[in-house]
Amino acid sequence: MKKWVLILVVSLSALFGAEYTKENRISDMNEMAAAMNTIQSGFFYNNYDTVVSGVEHLRNAIVRVQPPAEEVQEKDLIARYMNQKIQMTNKIVKKINKKSLTILERFKDGDSAQALQEYTKIMGQCMSCHREMRNW
Ligand code: HEC
Repeated sequence: MKKWVLILVVSLSALFGAEYTKENRISDMNEMAAAMNTIQSGFFYNNYDTVVSGVEHLRNAIVRVQPPAEEVQEKDLIARYMNQKIQMTNKIVKKINKKSLTILERFKDGDSAQALQEYTKIMGQCMSCHREMRNW
């Protein structure tokens, strides 16, 4: 009996430990900003490997981005508003993910103009989320 209680407590705290916090989000945001810089250098130095590494970095960070637990738990109070925010997060994350792959395809094909256009679209997604969520 006691063993089960212990297991329950341990797994609960593991769950809490895995919670996505605002700090996690800030750190992922900084990762994404760095990744965007890497992609940009890849463009300037015309180096495909650099673009690849930037895109990989971006994709690794963006998949982690989600509404932090603090906000999800508020859901009951202002459910409708939060749901919209969460949906928006998922939608934008998907878009950024997809466009980053298009960058690679275009750049590989030697179409740097199109690759740059996708890059600009990603920036647009970053900024539109910031506008919505932070009023930046
Ligand atoms: C889903 C919405 C969303 C998307 C998409 C998004 N951001 Fe953010 N970003 C935020 C929020 C919210 C904050 C504020 C975090 C905080 O202070 O709690 C933020 C903050 C930042 C910061 C400041 C972090 C700091 O140290 O204070 C940077 C840099 C940043 N984002 C870069 C990016 C880049 C680059 C992209 C696109 C690749 C991006 N963001 C896409 C929501 C988003």
